[in-house]
Amino acid sequence: MKQFNAREFIEEKTGFLRREVGGETAIVALSGGVDSSVVAVLGFKAVGGNLRAVFLDDGFMRIGEAEKTSRVFRNLGISVEVHDVQKDFLKALKGIRDAEEKRKAFRETFYETFSKIAKQAGAKIVLQGTIAADIVETAGGVKTQHNVLEQIGINPLEKYGFKIVEPLKELYKNQVRMVARELGLPDEIVNRRPFPGPGLAIRVLGEVTEEKLSVIKKATAIVDDELADIECFQAFPVLLEGRATGVEKDSTRKYGYMIALRIVKSEDAITAKYVRLDWARLDRVRDMIISSLPEVSRVLYDISDKPPATIEFE
Ligand code: XMP
Repeated sequence: MKQFNAREFIEEKTGFLRREVGGETAIVALSGGVDSSVVAVLGFKAVGGNLRAVFLDDGFMRIGEAEKTSRVFRNLGISVEVHDVQKDFLKALKGIRDAEEKRKAFRETFYETFSKIAKQAGAKIVLQGTIAADIVETAGGVKTQHNVLEQIGINPLEKYGFKIVEPLKELYKNQVRMVARELGLPDEIVNRRPFPGPGLAIRVLGEVTEEKLSVIKKATAIVDDELADIECFQAFPVLLEGRATGVEKDSTRKYGYMIALRIVKSEDAITAKYVRLDWARLDRVRDMIISSLPEVSRVLYDISDKPPATIEFE
């Protein structure tokens, strides 16, 4: 197989995007991750002012994500429109416990919201950072990734009124990072660990409530901060369903939330191995979580590989 050349890829795909978009208006949804960032920068290289970058603040993102993404892109000379749509998403997921149902509700709300924004902008083309792993997993029936429509029989033009263009769909994560580096994106984006499209909605098992979201957001900020230097593909907490018995300092019984820590190594997200983290590091993360979140009574460490487990819990 020919070795991947990021520079040639950029040249080829800017030409491709120029042809696809022509003189029309296109729109791209940023998430703060490397895939959508690469698509946005490629898109601006190709069609300049005909592209609009949007950040949907759905309430399932990490703390400070909208501001961080806006800042990174401002530094690249690209302005980002932030839309606060948190209430719509919470409402759409209310009462849903099943993982695939949650993904479906998220996907529909995402594209419906996006469709309204695209219409207002007069855009009929959406640039999207779908990568090969997203398609492989969805086509294989593992789980429907939020951004894969064709494989599950949805025609975006008919259903949402726009065409989706996916310049990264043949690439795997490591290749996307090479392209990001070649495009001059900052290291914080190039090396960013993957984060699922439905975000923290799939890291709260079962029904998503405002209270649980608040717990997982704080726990995620702690894990991101405490384990920023660990070499891994992903490191994140998951809020499990149900509660476990705990005990307060004064010996009274309490029921608290359970947090599982998931830290994995992987090249392409198709297979993964759990990381044998040093016990002292694990103790520290546990202490930070327990001391900052009185609602949590237990922290567990996930030692499952993929397969048989997937990286995410839902
Ligand atoms: P799994 O859990 O299937 O995850 O082993 C493989 C990789 O994909 C990410 N992931 C998603 N990314 N939309 C995304 O953009 C999704 O719906 C989604 N679900 C999982 C996951 O974080 C891991 O990197």
